[in-house]
Amino acid sequence: MSLPFDGAISHFATHDAPPDVQAALAGAKKGEILSPTYPYATRMDKDDYEDTLRALQIELVKLQSWVKESGARVCVLFEGRDAAGKGGTIKRVRANLNPRTTRVVALSKPTDREASEWYFQRYIRQLPAGGEITLFDRSWYNRGVVEHVFEFCAPSEREAFFRQLPEFEAMLVDEGIHLVKFWLNVGRAEQLRRFLRREKDPLKQWKLSWIDVEGLKKWDAYTGAISETLTRSHTKVAPWTIIRSDDKRRARLAAIRQILSGLDYTGKKTQLVSALDPQVSGGPDIWD
Ligand code: ADP
Ligand code: AMP
Ligand code: MLT
Repeated sequence: MSLPFDGAISHFATHDAPPDVQAALAGAKKGEILSPTYPYATRMDKDDYEDTLRALQIELVKLQSWVKESGARVCVLFEGRDAAGKGGTIKRVRANLNPRTTRVVALSKPTDREASEWYFQRYIRQLPAGGEITLFDRSWYNRGVVEHVFEFCAPSEREAFFRQLPEFEAMLVDEGIHLVKFWLNVGRAEQLRRFLRREKDPLKQWKLSWIDVEGLKKWDAYTGAISETLTRSHTKVAPWTIIRSDDKRRARLAAIRQILSGLDYTGKKTQLVSALDPQVSGGPDIWD
């Protein structure tokens, strides 16, 4: 199968990427972290990762039972640039959970009918009922970032979004919904490395879209839109957790720990769950 943008990513990587990104990619060794600001030089050891992931997945199963019994509603948003690792993290969260209880919501671009609705309406339809965990692969934050960068919405629509947002999220929390907001942060060279891998791999090509290819040239526009979005939507009741995702392994463990640590489920292994690495996840101050 050939893609409409065949070779566009490798072309960008060798001709158009900034020199520091090209240099980072050229010298990259397997397992080496490319972002100069990442706190570790290499990714986490595979065996340590797998052992810890398994232990945390057992905790997620306990969480699921508690959610079902207590009728809690859990809503987790996964945001981040293309290839930040949203899909892969969601996959590890849900791997051993009941698909009836734990649902993934990954909406496509709005239909004409949806585009004529109140912006939040189609997301509201997907919110968890009692006993459910809902994982959003992208969310209403599309209006803050991708819709802005690609001019899919008017500036006035984006302003209305930011105006309504704090109250909207406060209502969800006031309702008793457990709202967790993740921003997965990936560096530019690592993003390009992942795109190149997707371009080559027939099992991963489906993840590439026209938006990803065009987005390569829009890194700085994304940076501005993300920074503004984080500033305007990091509230006391609905704070962001930034997860540095240059190492997928540490990022996945951080996300699962963060979900678990916010909920008081039965049988929690507190020491395991609370071992969060402050250099990998934290508030918007660790975003760069
Ligand atoms: P993903 O990275 O989620 O696999 P894309 O990179 O193709 O998907 O698109 C990013 C986001 O932009 C998706 O949530 C998609 O629904 C949204 N999007 C794409 N086209 C439009 C559009 N014309 N109007 C609004 N949103 C759009
Ligand atoms: P693996 O997940 O071990 O099958 O590796 C797949 C590819 O990911 C290999 O080609 C590695 O070089 C590459 N890789 C290198 N560093 C990282 C990292 N920090 N996170 C994820 N993948 C990486
Ligand atoms: C990711 O890996 O971050 C997303 O799920 C897929 C993408 O937009 O590239």
